[in-house]
Amino acid sequence: MSNKAVQHTCVFGMGWGDEGKGKLVDLLYPAFHAVVRFNGGANAGHTVCVGKEKFALHLLPTGVLHESAVGVIGPGVVVDPIGLLEEIDGLAARGINVSPKLKISQRAHLVMPYHKAEDNLSEQNATGATRIGTTARGIGPCYADKMRRTTAIRFIDLLNDENLEARVRELSQKRAAALKAIYGDDGGLDIESIVRDVLLAKKRLSSNICDTTSFLHETINAGQAILFEGANGILLDIDHGTYPFVTSSSTGPHGIGPGAGVPPACVTRYIAVTKAYSTRVGSGPFVTELKDDIGDRIRKAGNEFGTTTGRPRRCGWFDAVSSRYARQITGATDIALMHLDTLSGFDEVGVCVAYRHEGKTLTTMPTDAATLEQCEPVIEYRPGWHENLRTVRRYEDLPQTTRDYVEHIESLVGAPVSILGVGPDRSQTLIRGPLKDSIDVPEPASL
Ligand code: GDP
Ligand code: IMO
Ligand code: MG
Repeated sequence: MSNKAVQHTCVFGMGWGDEGKGKLVDLLYPAFHAVVRFNGGANAGHTVCVGKEKFALHLLPTGVLHESAVGVIGPGVVVDPIGLLEEIDGLAARGINVSPKLKISQRAHLVMPYHKAEDNLSEQNATGATRIGTTARGIGPCYADKMRRTTAIRFIDLLNDENLEARVRELSQKRAAALKAIYGDDGGLDIESIVRDVLLAKKRLSSNICDTTSFLHETINAGQAILFEGANGILLDIDHGTYPFVTSSSTGPHGIGPGAGVPPACVTRYIAVTKAYSTRVGSGPFVTELKDDIGDRIRKAGNEFGTTTGRPRRCGWFDAVSSRYARQITGATDIALMHLDTLSGFDEVGVCVAYRHEGKTLTTMPTDAATLEQCEPVIEYRPGWHENLRTVRRYEDLPQTTRDYVEHIESLVGAPVSILGVGPDRSQTLIRGPLKDSIDVPEPASL
């Protein structure tokens, strides 16, 4: 454990998700006692590569891959219990037993099959402007039920509700009827199998369900550090993202209060993860998108295909306008700039420094998606690099042009780039500047 001052830390996405949060959490977790998911659900897909092993985590906090860290699923997460059991069983089949160190908040909500059915049907029946391109994991419908209150199921209900079976049956029947009325299709819901699955989840997960809020406060009082693992990204945030093409939760450090029950002021280090270029999956505005050979080249070099859905990710140049906005609303103290290796081989690398809209130059993020759709990027080209960066382990050993690019991004976004990714493996990460001295990153146990 670290002998440095305890700093509770949040790792979150600065863009539209898939920035490399999983890799970073996997690298940092040995300095922390607990790793906490506080938002989203199985829409997340966090990849960890260690040697030849590759893991994709959707609901489990990334730290649970390793023995030392406790994994916490906080009150703000929406959990598909069967998906969670599949994830637990999938890891068990690979020799990793996460159950003993997994804590699920009694306050977290269950994603039910009818949420997933509604997500699918609503997308299938939407026209262009209203099709969000969701991950079909039932996230939006589940959060809607949470806000509606009377139709929601929480993990505490698995423990305490004596009428659980009857309630699940009734809610499922009503929802199947509602879907049929709206879409002419009940989504193929099998009511009795839904009831059986909830009872199975109750049986298998009861020992993991607890008051995670008390656990986290005990951890803080004991002087042990906590790592909060954001899911999705700031530009997908329900309040601050490119609405309505967003997810349904608070995706940044501001989500820690409601999503974990820990005052955000306890958290003093906010690491915003981004790529050295931009990507997006699903619909919605993407000002720097490259619908050309360059975009294809980035997708191929970066293996840009969704971890959760396998969809090809849209690719474009780094967007300093949206990144600065993300930095402002989150108070990011550090930037982790991933995938620098992916940009090797370009003679020139573009950075978007402003948007053009109806003859005006914008340096702040417009609020509505329709305006963003019409914006043109103002791209500044900088010299690229051709060296293979994957074996570089010290910042000083990066090519001068790469370092110039990194430092240019720092000045445009307004926060230090303290972490750099030069490949998918945990070892292909550089830490520089004050962060290096304020965090102990012991070599994690190999998997
Ligand atoms: P997350 O959702 O933010 O955890 O990101 P994903 O795991 O969905 O997507 C990030 C992808 O980039 C994964 O395939 C990672 O293995 C990979 N990755 C992360 N950092 C780097 C990097 O610095 N270079 C390269 N080439 N790949 C990286
Ligand atoms: P991680 O944690 C990338 C996107 C979906 C869609 C929109 C709404 O791996 O970075 P939802 O299913 O949440 O209702 O979909 O948000 N989206 C993500 N894109 N990475 C993610 O998570 C995402 N989570 C949601 O593609 O556009
Ligand atoms: Mg992902």
